[in-house]
Amino acid sequence: MLDCTVGGGNHAEKVLSEFTNSRLVGLDIDPDMVALASQKLEPFIEQKRALVFHTNYTGFDNLDVQPILDRKLFGSDKDRYDVIFADLGFNSYQVSTPDRGFSFMLKGELDMRYDRSRADTPTCADIVRNVGWHLG
Ligand SMILES: C[S@@+](CC[C@H](N)C(=O)[O-])C[C@H]1O[C@@H](n2cnc3c(N)ncnc32)[C@H](O)[C@@H]1O
Repeated sequence: MLDCTVGGGNHAEKVLSEFTNSRLVGLDIDPDMVALASQKLEPFIEQKRALVFHTNYTGFDNLDVQPILDRKLFGSDKDRYDVIFADLGFNSYQVSTPDRGFSFMLKGELDMRYDRSRADTPTCADIVRNVGWHLG
């Protein structure tokens, strides 16, 4: 299975626990989520049934496939997944962390970037501050 938005690894953990022959590659654009999912899925990573990558799912074709092949997470054809899953949007960790800027309820800088590891990406606050207003 390819989980395009592994998040905290909740769906992934359920699938790997329920289907004992399943193998999973998880992706997330948010490095915090990759850390969280890697922690949650550690037993399955140890069993060589799962791997988690920090990437935008649009770049899944450019993944380093060697570790995936080494663990036989899919066959020799790198496009061969039986299931491709995407649970789109943001998750509860992101929305309940004030400085991520996703919450309507909690005060924090209007950041709203999924990937804060990229210094070249403006925050939502940067965009709002720099926008030219043309009202009427
Ligand atoms: C609703 S959550 C997924 C929750 C996950 N299914 C679970 O069980 O914990 C959506 C996730 O998609 C990620 N995401 C959003 N846009 C993405 C993109 N373009 N590429 C990869 N991940 C993305 C977010 O960082 C977030 O962790």
